[in-house]
Amino acid sequence: FTPDKIRNFGIIAHVDHGKSTLADRLLEITGTIHKSEENKQVMDSLQVERERGITVKAQTASIIHKHDGDQYLLNFVDTPGHVDFSYEVSRSLAACQGVLLLVDATQGVQAQTLANFYLAMEHNLKVIPVINKIDLKTANIDRVYEEMTSLFGIDLEDVIAISAKNGSNIEEVLKTIVCKLPSPLQRDPKSFNPNNNLKVLLFDSLFEMHRGVTAYVAIIDGVLRTGDTVTSQILLNREQKGKKTYTVQEVGMLRPGREKTDALYPGQVGYFICNMKSVSEAQIGDTLFREGFPVKPLPGFVKALPVVYAGLFPPLPVEYDQLRSAIDKLILNDRSVTVKHTDSPVLGRGFLIGYLGLLHMDIFRQRLRQEFQADTIVTVPNVTYKAILKPSRKKGIKEPKEILITKASEFPDAVDVIQYSQPMVTVTIVTPVDYITAVMDFCDNRTGEEISNTKISETQVVLVYRMPSSEVLIDNFYDGLKSLSSGYASFDYEESGYEVTNLKKIDIIVNGVEVEELSRVCTSDKVDGLGRSICQKLKTNLPGQLYPISIQAAVGKTVFARETRPAMKKDVLAKCYGGDYSRKLKLLKRHSEKVKALKQSGSANISRKVFIEIFKR
Ligand code: GTP
Repeated sequence: FTPDKIRNFGIIAHVDHGKSTLADRLLEITGTIHKSEENKQVMDSLQVERERGITVKAQTASIIHKHDGDQYLLNFVDTPGHVDFSYEVSRSLAACQGVLLLVDATQGVQAQTLANFYLAMEHNLKVIPVINKIDLKTANIDRVYEEMTSLFGIDLEDVIAISAKNGSNIEEVLKTIVCKLPSPLQRDPKSFNPNNNLKVLLFDSLFEMHRGVTAYVAIIDGVLRTGDTVTSQILLNREQKGKKTYTVQEVGMLRPGREKTDALYPGQVGYFICNMKSVSEAQIGDTLFREGFPVKPLPGFVKALPVVYAGLFPPLPVEYDQLRSAIDKLILNDRSVTVKHTDSPVLGRGFLIGYLGLLHMDIFRQRLRQEFQADTIVTVPNVTYKAILKPSRKKGIKEPKEILITKASEFPDAVDVIQYSQPMVTVTIVTPVDYITAVMDFCDNRTGEEISNTKISETQVVLVYRMPSSEVLIDNFYDGLKSLSSGYASFDYEESGYEVTNLKKIDIIVNGVEVEELSRVCTSDKVDGLGRSICQKLKTNLPGQLYPISIQAAVGKTVFARETRPAMKKDVLAKCYGGDYSRKLKLLKRHSEKVKALKQSGSANISRKVFIEIFKR
């Protein structure tokens, strides 16, 4: 295929608007896979994707379509819809020239439709608007037209109405892709030349236990063949001394399974396998080229910044190495997490992991279990706060110094701090007009500041608020919004800098011992409510002991909340039949001494087992 006969595009949409179903139809109608009655969702290959019915990882496929007697190679990416994975969308669009923007005819434009549309604009991509699910009785095509024209300035005649489920109008989609999307060559006339030096964009990679690394690539210039020796820009920068090269062992196309070919040509998207073994080698966004023929590197991807941190520990200390190796492998397939080592007095050696959101955290944990058989304990998630420390000769700080607080144990002494700040987000909410008051109250209660309020059709409104990240990312914003709007409101957020605030650290003290793992950082106004709720939760979740357990929440030296878990009653005399009075007395005395000793010996400290129970709950 010459580059003028190639089209590269992404399918973008809000969650559940039908991307994976449309991908299935495109594959079937072009004969890439066999037709079947059931909805296969062949592009969702991970176990977690199939179980949860959501796309987590962008997937690429190549199809061949005949139009006006010519064959075209169409490479497309099925992208995830959930806000936590918008980084995946952004990255996969780097190899595209256009997108299909899908909108569910029953739901209309939702928050991620907006976010994805703006992302496509940022990448300067041609947008083909598509309304899906027109087979449903509740479809309201006119309303969706109205929203698309008012929000995106789209012409009505450009919108294609389809049913991805029953396949109606899919031919029209294919025709529009061929006729309206630019070829790679049109977008970048100097590139996509087979005679230029090899230039390859590595946009994704997959690690498999037995095969090692498969790199997913887009060929920008030159031809990539089996047997080629390639190197990479990042390796060149990093390894000035011991230069490293790779020999290409296999190249091929993704249809959507791997299909070996001899070579990949400019404009093509495919995979290659070489002797990349370690996590650090297949850097996403890297530029590959032929050894000895360096090229100007492509602009790298901006690394995803984690927004939520939580500790991840093995259930047993001996399983630490197994967990470490599982994480090492999983992060090759999920490059958006950051991993730091951490130690916990109770849970032992573990990791502090930065995620893109709570769903991402959940999925990461599920994938560790399903794909690498690694069980884990996760501690309470936190957003990243900042503090500016005062200069101090004693501590070797010459000028005011900014530090990040990703876990409570990093919280500095209040006397050392000039000011704290907290991360903020801009939240975009799309809601039916009927729920607008409830949604606005909900945002006000979360200290949100209204930025805009726009009616986009007779029934729908877009609200934009700025509020603290912790309100959106940690405090069940999603569940709250869904329940107050009967599931109709959707939201998306993006980071919006930091804002000065007053922070406190809540310490949790159990039987006189401070338990670092339970400490929390929060804004001053939240201290009381949060402290009390942690104490109450512990009271119900701590397994009973032979003695009462006192649970306190404190800021600094001031205890402001307290609960007591009563002692578990043990019938010491249960085994003592008959009336031997002196034996009963002896048993009771021994029991009371045991309880006293337990209290004093510090074994009232929460054991690891109890912790595991608490974090599980
Ligand atoms: P995420 O990857 O989670 O963002 O979802 P998605 O956009 O890939 O949506 P998916 O293809 O998984 O479809 C979501 C649901 O909508 C599934 O139950 C599909 O069967 C259904 N669906 C998709 N297209 C149509 C359609 O044209 N008509 C009807 N009736 N249902 C559809």
